[in-house]
Amino acid sequence: MTFDPAEIANLDARDPLRGFRDEFQLREGLIYVDGNSLGAAPKATAARLADAVSAQWAEGLITSWLGAEWSTAPQRIGNKIATIIGAAPDEVIAADSTSINIFKALTAALSLRPDRRVILSESTNFPTDVYMMQGIEAFSGGRVKSIAVDPDAVIERLDEDVAVLLLTQVHYKSGLVRDMAEVTRRAQEKGVLVIWDLSHSAGALPVDLNGANADFALGCGYKYLNGGPGAPAFLFVAKRHQSARPVLSGWFGHASPFTFEEDYRPADGIARFLCGTPPVLGLVGLEVGVDLLCRADMAELRKKSLRLSELFIERMEERCGEFGFALACPRDVALRGSQVSYAHPNGYEIVQALKASDVIGDFRAPDILRFGLTPLYLRYADIVEAVERIRDVCATRAWDKPEYRKRAAVT
Ligand SMILES: Cc1ncc(COP(=O)(O)O)c(C=O)c1O
Repeated sequence: MTFDPAEIANLDARDPLRGFRDEFQLREGLIYVDGNSLGAAPKATAARLADAVSAQWAEGLITSWLGAEWSTAPQRIGNKIATIIGAAPDEVIAADSTSINIFKALTAALSLRPDRRVILSESTNFPTDVYMMQGIEAFSGGRVKSIAVDPDAVIERLDEDVAVLLLTQVHYKSGLVRDMAEVTRRAQEKGVLVIWDLSHSAGALPVDLNGANADFALGCGYKYLNGGPGAPAFLFVAKRHQSARPVLSGWFGHASPFTFEEDYRPADGIARFLCGTPPVLGLVGLEVGVDLLCRADMAELRKKSLRLSELFIERMEERCGEFGFALACPRDVALRGSQVSYAHPNGYEIVQALKASDVIGDFRAPDILRFGLTPLYLRYADIVEAVERIRDVCATRAWDKPEYRKRAAVT
């Protein structure tokens, strides 16, 4: 790609997504390349939250459960997310955290495969995915076995003992994209159900859950969906699996919550996978982010995302080649999610020094620098400038300071 400033300016001027940047609150001078950790704040969110507090809550009080449609927000927002991830209406809810939805999906899948005992994943999956599997194994008293194998050994490990395979479509560190349709097909050939963690795919690239015949999926609301810190997650359950009996059998998943029956009776459809009272304020923020994405053309988004990452990598090769960065994401664009990663022995310090230069990325132990590229609010010029600041931090060894070596609790 070109590095000519006029050409870069031209790319930004012709960018069909350029109007979206103005929908976000981003400080002048800041280059935010961490939308894969926490998406930027849409400008509309603050006013929507203020209204939810002062009008819907303070004035409306409990009448807002119906009047402001609080009670149906998980399904309403779920239906919007469905359009972004290739699901049908009534297959998605916005609820709980990704970790909790992993638990719901794993236990639902286990109940659909009562003769099988293995829940399978890859050892380098995002830790919470594997931790949730280990929790189920510990609770099951020996019935369930949690197994996490080498990423390349997943397919060969599939057999008649495996009930469910849990994988993340876009790897959180490397950004490697798995072939959802192919993996799902190979697993289902062996009678294995598949759960896709879409935390780094939803809102980052086109996803076609039903095209891939996916069984379950889930993902974060606070990353590329721009729902805000701790925003509710989403859960997809394919229509054909919605008769599974939820283990988290809370009253919001009951067929008739407000008749206060003594025994649990699951609601029909996706609603049974709700559990407790919806976190309304979190859902209000999530809906603003999801509405923005619903207006974006996902094919254009993917096209821009790959051009941004290609520009980033080429620019790093040219301007930072001598500083010891090893590319840690796929060089092949077809295999790359919406992020660029590098391994570097001083990765942690460099990420801290970059923050001081107003480039916010993040660090994932032991040595990965991650740069999430969000096409809705990043410009081509931001990529060029980010790499110049990385060069500056490395050339001046600005990272080589004791305060940047001290590891913080959140990286
Ligand atoms: C792939 C993946 N799954 C799950 C999570 C987090 O789940 P939760 O929102 O429950 O903390 C993350 C967080 O970064 C993630 O990258």
